[in-house]
Amino acid sequence: MAEGLDLGKCFEIINNLTTEAGRLIARNNETRQDFVCKSGDIDLVTQTDQDVEKLIMDGIRQHYPDHKFIGEEESSSGGGVNKLTDAPTWIIDPVDGTMNFVHAFPHSCISVGLKVNKVTEIGIIYNPMLEQRFTARRGQGAYYNGKRIQTSGQKELGKALVTSEFGTSRDEPKMLAVNENFAKIAKQVHGLRVLGSAALNMAMVALGAADANYEMGIHAWDVCAGDLIVREAGGVVIDPAGGEFDIMSRRVLAAATPELAQELAKVLTQFYPQPRDD
Ligand code: IPD
Repeated sequence: MAEGLDLGKCFEIINNLTTEAGRLIARNNETRQDFVCKSGDIDLVTQTDQDVEKLIMDGIRQHYPDHKFIGEEESSSGGGVNKLTDAPTWIIDPVDGTMNFVHAFPHSCISVGLKVNKVTEIGIIYNPMLEQRFTARRGQGAYYNGKRIQTSGQKELGKALVTSEFGTSRDEPKMLAVNENFAKIAKQVHGLRVLGSAALNMAMVALGAADANYEMGIHAWDVCAGDLIVREAGGVVIDPAGGEFDIMSRRVLAAATPELAQELAKVLTQFYPQPRDD
C-alpha cells in the first residue's frame, strides 16, 4: 500500500484497461492510419492515440477521481506537461511508436506507469498486435506475459545488442548527435537496432533480448513504465552521461548491468533536449 492506496487494485484496473484499449489498437493497426503532425513532420498523432488516452484516463477516473495524469496527447494539445507532484499520477503513452502504427508496422504499444510520491509503483507496456505484455510492480519483479523475466547479464559493450531511435524531431543539432552516436556505436557493438518504440526498446532490455537502450529526446511517458520494468528485471536505468536517471530530462540509458551502462555512457556524444518535461 502507498498512502492507503491499494496498488493491487490499481494494477488490476490498468491491466484491464490496457486490454480493452489494446483491442482498439490491434483492430486499427490492420490498415494504415490517417494522422496529424504535432511538433514537426515526423511527430504524429492519430485518432486512436487520442481515443486510447481518453479511454484509459476515463477508466481510471471512475475509480480514482482525484488521481493526476501526465498523458502524451493531453500534454501535446496545448497545455504542456502537467507538473509531477506527490499525488498518485498516471503517466500514459497511449500509442508508443505512432509512426509504426500509422504504417501498420505491428510494433507499437501502450505504455503506462503509476507514480506515488514520485516513485514508480506500477509499469505496463503492452503490444496488442503481437500479444506482448510486460508488467512490473515495485519490489515484485518484472514479467512477460505472466512469466518472470531478467536482463541478459551482459557486461561488455563489444558483445551487446543495443537499441536506440532516430526520434521524432529533425532538429539539426539533435540529428548530428544521433548520427554521430549511431556511427560510433555500430563500430563497437554486436548489433544496433532501431525498431520505432522507445517503450518496447526498454521492454526488450528487461526481457534480455537486447542488452542496452539509449535515447536523448524521449518524454516521461515513453520511459516511465520501462524504467520500472527494467529495474525489476535486474537491470539499471541511468542518465546517458552516467549519472542518475531523471524522468523529466528527456534522456535515458537502460542496460542489463551497471558495467554495460557505464561503458556505453562513456562512448556517447551527449545531447540535452529542450524544453525539458518540467
Ligand atoms: C516516440 C517513439 C519513438 C521515439 C520517440 C518517442 P510516440 O513515441 O517511441 O520511437 O524515438 O522518442 O517519442 O510519439 O510514438 O509515442
